[in-house]
Amino acid sequence: MDILYEQLSDKSLLKTGNFIAGEWLPATDENTQIPVINPADGQVVARVFKASKQLCEKAIASAKIAFTDWRNSSPKKRTNVLQAWNALLHQHKRDLALIMTMEQGKPLGEAEGEIKYAASYLEYYAEEVKRIKGDILPAPDRSSKIIVAKEPVGVVGIITPWNFPVAMFVRKLAPALAAGCTCIVKPDERTPLSALAVMELGRRAGIPPGVVQMITGDPPEMGACLATHPDVAKLSFTGSTRVGKHLMTLAASTVKRLSLELGGNAPFIVFPDADIPAAVEGLIASKFRNTGQTCVCVNRVFVHEDIHDAFVSILKEKVKGLRVGSGLEGCDVGPMIDEQAIHKVERLVQDACHRGAEVCCGGQRLPLGPHYYEPTVLSGVTREMDIFREEIFGPVVSITSFAETEEVIRMANDTPYGLASYVYSKDASVIWRITEALEYGMVGVNTGSISTAWAPFGGIKQSGFGREGSAYGMDEYLQLKYINWKTE
Ligand code: SIN
Repeated sequence: MDILYEQLSDKSLLKTGNFIAGEWLPATDENTQIPVINPADGQVVARVFKASKQLCEKAIASAKIAFTDWRNSSPKKRTNVLQAWNALLHQHKRDLALIMTMEQGKPLGEAEGEIKYAASYLEYYAEEVKRIKGDILPAPDRSSKIIVAKEPVGVVGIITPWNFPVAMFVRKLAPALAAGCTCIVKPDERTPLSALAVMELGRRAGIPPGVVQMITGDPPEMGACLATHPDVAKLSFTGSTRVGKHLMTLAASTVKRLSLELGGNAPFIVFPDADIPAAVEGLIASKFRNTGQTCVCVNRVFVHEDIHDAFVSILKEKVKGLRVGSGLEGCDVGPMIDEQAIHKVERLVQDACHRGAEVCCGGQRLPLGPHYYEPTVLSGVTREMDIFREEIFGPVVSITSFAETEEVIRMANDTPYGLASYVYSKDASVIWRITEALEYGMVGVNTGSISTAWAPFGGIKQSGFGREGSAYGMDEYLQLKYINWKTE
């Protein structure tokens, strides 16, 4: 705590309590604290308040009380608050990035990039408030009008993961607030500090008491409380498919609306006419961002057999050049989040090698600290290997070669997931054929970077449903009301 505290320009951003009804509640004794561990060295960075079920219910009650005023607040007021919050994120981006790197491990530059990425959702939805519009439809007779109004859904529960501790909750919260909803946010217990700091900036930006609460606590307990409570109208979750399915069953008891952004198994397909160096760059940008711990990370690389060897040789040299280290020290790749994560990567690599994959580079832990894994390239991966079917969530590139377009389409779609996919080619007919055939919610064509507040981020199949970003993201927090007005 002291090390982080000393480095912050604004020390009051280091919050460890829960935020309810416009106030910070401190932990009262050691039994109600959760340690936050720096993945770079295993040291405790801080301890945060562990909310009880009763506190979660209090947070819901507070959001319910605040809903009436917030939904009836002027659209201009909502715009102003979101704009002020956006400005504060930019103003404090260095401190926020430092907090994030120390609890999550990502390189400082990436952490600052995440703060700007999060802020872009506040900026986008501050503007989108003025475009929440309904409709007047033709009625079958002249004597009535059919009016369609859009209204906020109500109190929203937001549960987000450790890999993007700020961007994932802000991109749900910004459209929810713009729509007129009130919220309870539960950040991941491993990375709550940057979210709590952003909450403090929300308070300073003028978020009225009760409009947003932030609670940290035991995930199953908080998840069950938010998913089953009758006063929560909607739950938005980013995380694993396993937990998403569980929340779906819990939410059924109150027929709650849901948005689920779950796991992925992204294919990255390189056709023989592709610009190979550009494809390698795109792959590295996607694969090694956040040490490979993103849902849209490339998981399976399919390279045409004619260019396979050239592609692997360029890739191998680039990957060997990646600097691994603590996120505070100017590196490209940081530590993984915890022992469980690195253990999974080891298991997947061992299984692949056992079944015949070749290690082109990497393949080992690094003795830099408890959770470092070498950037790794495997070739000769087949569908029988676990690494082909499971989400790697680590710094490992897994390559399979292909000969025919139909064959690669079949392999790319051979997964229950459907979040992100990528294709590299210069041939418009190939691109069109493949983008139509890919069973994914998002396709990057000649790019490995698809995330922006301006586009609808989300998946199909077991990667979930609902969209985040763009005007489509706003619809997740609005419901339709049809009014039949007898005029004669
Ligand atoms: C994710 O990993 O779920 C999100 C990544 C992104 O927004 O680019």
